[in-house]
Amino acid sequence: MANPSWSRRHIISLADFQPAEYDTVLQTAASFQEVLSRRTKKVPTLQGQVIANLFFEPSTRTRSSFELAAKRLSADTLNFAPGTSSLTKGETILDTAKTYLAMGTDIMVIRHKEAGVPLAIANEMDRLQSRVGVFNAGDGQHEHPSQALLDLFTICTLLEAEKPRLSLLEGKKIAIVGDILHSRVARSNIWSLTASGAEVHLAGPPTLLPKLFADFVEDSPLPRKLFLHWSLEPALEQADFVMTLRLQRERMTQHLLPSLREYHQQFGLTHERLQLCQPGVKVLHPGPVNRGVEISSELMDDPAFSLISQQVTSGVAVRMALLYLMGIGSGKT
Ligand code: CP
Repeated sequence: MANPSWSRRHIISLADFQPAEYDTVLQTAASFQEVLSRRTKKVPTLQGQVIANLFFEPSTRTRSSFELAAKRLSADTLNFAPGTSSLTKGETILDTAKTYLAMGTDIMVIRHKEAGVPLAIANEMDRLQSRVGVFNAGDGQHEHPSQALLDLFTICTLLEAEKPRLSLLEGKKIAIVGDILHSRVARSNIWSLTASGAEVHLAGPPTLLPKLFADFVEDSPLPRKLFLHWSLEPALEQADFVMTLRLQRERMTQHLLPSLREYHQQFGLTHERLQLCQPGVKVLHPGPVNRGVEISSELMDDPAFSLISQQVTSGVAVRMALLYLMGIGSGKT
């Protein structure tokens, strides 16, 4: 049965996600969270469907979480390892995708170091008039939609476990700190968190937070509140949630920082710095973490503040929801 508030075959970006779509994802994920709390953590929803994880770039959390989500929905999963695939013999990425299509794949989950690869594959699947759904599991510096949706779910369930919804964030202050320039997680989170009516405050050194980010949400039809700071303190003051990001040194083509020690002194999150925030502030990080660089090891491991483990746990329920919605949205079940 199709969900009336869901019509997407592909999920590539959150730029045009509507509030009703966020709420559908949050409520569906809450139902699957309940399934995951049962003794038998499996439902037959996507039985007979094939989900291929095509990860052309390394991943721990996202790949395993999508695989587990697919298995909990009783789908058949295919895992692709680029190093042992025919890519090494010169096969193109599009031909790889078409090979998985020919095997009867229903949903392709794609990660690639170049922005635009999932969209190119989705366009090719549409051109071939296939009914395959394509999920962007992180493309270069562009977007990482499932990470932002699991972050949103983690925050909303903390505020109201039984009925997570976007409007719970209205009026909240959320800081996103660090390497904004290279972060696909930041870009997807800017779309989702500003759609809720929260104030989103970006903070980082000018080399990692260029002024052009002030225009990021400019053309959006939704009202969005986005602020930039080139020091940490104004972003942290009275913040309800703080998300810190990994320094993406693999994407830095030039020296953008004096040293990691200096970066930690200026932008690293510590217990002491969180005193500027609201009492009860919570800290998120998408992982993987550079301990002692963007966040102190003590803060990362402190369950009174850190939501990092909950984010990983939420990822399975949220990805179950997304695969389910893509499965039914494409009229396959
Ligand atoms: N957060 C995230 O995308 O982690 P992985 O690279 O381990 O998938």
